[in-house]
Amino acid sequence: MTGRVAILISGGGSNMLALVDSMTGDHPARPVLVAANDPRAGGLTKAAHRGIPTAAVDHRPFKGDRAGFEAALSEHLDAAAPDILCLAGFMRVLTPEFVARWSGRILNIHPSLLPKYKGLHTHARALEAGDTHHGCTVHEVTPALDDGPILGQARLAIAPGDTSETLAARVLTLEHRLYPAVLRRFAAGDRSRIDLD
Ligand code: GRF
Repeated sequence: MTGRVAILISGGGSNMLALVDSMTGDHPARPVLVAANDPRAGGLTKAAHRGIPTAAVDHRPFKGDRAGFEAALSEHLDAAAPDILCLAGFMRVLTPEFVARWSGRILNIHPSLLPKYKGLHTHARALEAGDTHHGCTVHEVTPALDDGPILGQARLAIAPGDTSETLAARVLTLEHRLYPAVLRRFAAGDRSRIDLD
């Protein structure tokens, strides 16, 4: 059986592309939908160019009605019937009800070594703290933000001249390696943790 994967994005979608491009050959999953909360998200065009169905559900007309936004998004998800939902640079906080519906089948990538630096501005916070190492985490999504069982981490050493911009770029490269590696295992039913250096 081949797993069906839907990917939620908000922006350029480089993590989405890394996931999509990994799902070939003997990979146990295939992409069935890329959906964004912003119709201008650059990743939508990139996904469409690869022949993947796309959907845009603009969150702004819902004016903070998160359940209403999620109901509209869920119409697209229900039609695509994914087995796994991957958040890839998806910048909306999901309600506990939505997360519960996808419990055990929803993954996120976060640009820090969780549990450090949940939320935003992770690279600047790692620098400010004087950390020697930084990286990214793929975890299962639970109702608490950037929480949930960790499925994989990738680390790098912070260099003396690093800025939040150079760190972001280098961590993003790690994200593109880590997320596909975790998804491949997860789609095969293996939830053992991956650590990349
Ligand atoms: C990445 O930096 C990711 O860590 C963060 O949002 C960005 C998404 O980039 N959560 P992309 O849309 O995958 O290119």
